[in-house]
Amino acid sequence: MSLVLDPAAQDLLFREARTANTFTDEPVTDEQVRAIYDLVKYGPTAFNQSPLRVTLVRSPEARERLVQHMAEGNRPKTATAPLVAILSADNEFHQELPQLFPHFPQAKDAFFSERPAREGAAALNAALQAAYFIIGVRAAGLAAGPMTGLDFEGVRKEFLDDDHTPLMVVNIGRPGPDAWFPRSPRLEYEQVITTV
Ligand SMILES: Cc1cc2nc3c(=O)[nH]c(=O)nc-3n(C[C@H](O)[C@H](O)[C@H](O)COP(=O)(O)O)c2cc1C
Repeated sequence: MSLVLDPAAQDLLFREARTANTFTDEPVTDEQVRAIYDLVKYGPTAFNQSPLRVTLVRSPEARERLVQHMAEGNRPKTATAPLVAILSADNEFHQELPQLFPHFPQAKDAFFSERPAREGAAALNAALQAAYFIIGVRAAGLAAGPMTGLDFEGVRKEFLDDDHTPLMVVNIGRPGPDAWFPRSPRLEYEQVITTV
């Protein structure tokens, strides 16, 4: 009994949670997305830099523009999911650092005055936050379908700007019929964990 999290929550977040490929028509509301964000915003990032940005693709016109940039096999999923989100990294996150890390406001200039340093930090920390976001979607009783099979430069030009790097697109909703393949195996503890 090493885990203190309620077993039902363990199942909801991990054991029974799956990556959905199809969804029902049930809408995903802004209230649900707000609740997800208000939970996962507490996930840790370096210097609390919080570089993840989320673009909710709600209008049919925007959805159509996004689908064009998805890989062929991903298009039907992105076309039909109740809600689609573009997750990106803000490479200018340092502007918010004095607010986000008030006990060391010098971090902004001491570590992040150069764009390459910001891009590296933003890529790592926004990817961490993307993982928190996926788990947050599950905590809302929904399924996420993260996807990197897409034209990143196309998505950046269509929806973002030079200061934002797209990370992935996430389909969100309640899983539909035939939402997933059989569960793929995972690596065993011994294959992953080394003690020195
Ligand atoms: C970052 C990321 C990118 C992914 N890209 C795609 C994709 O482009 N197309 C797709 O069908 N599935 C994609 N997947 C889904 C994975 O194949 C799936 O999450 C994995 O096999 C585990 O499935 P499970 O959660 O059902 O066990 C992606 C998942 C992640 C986390």
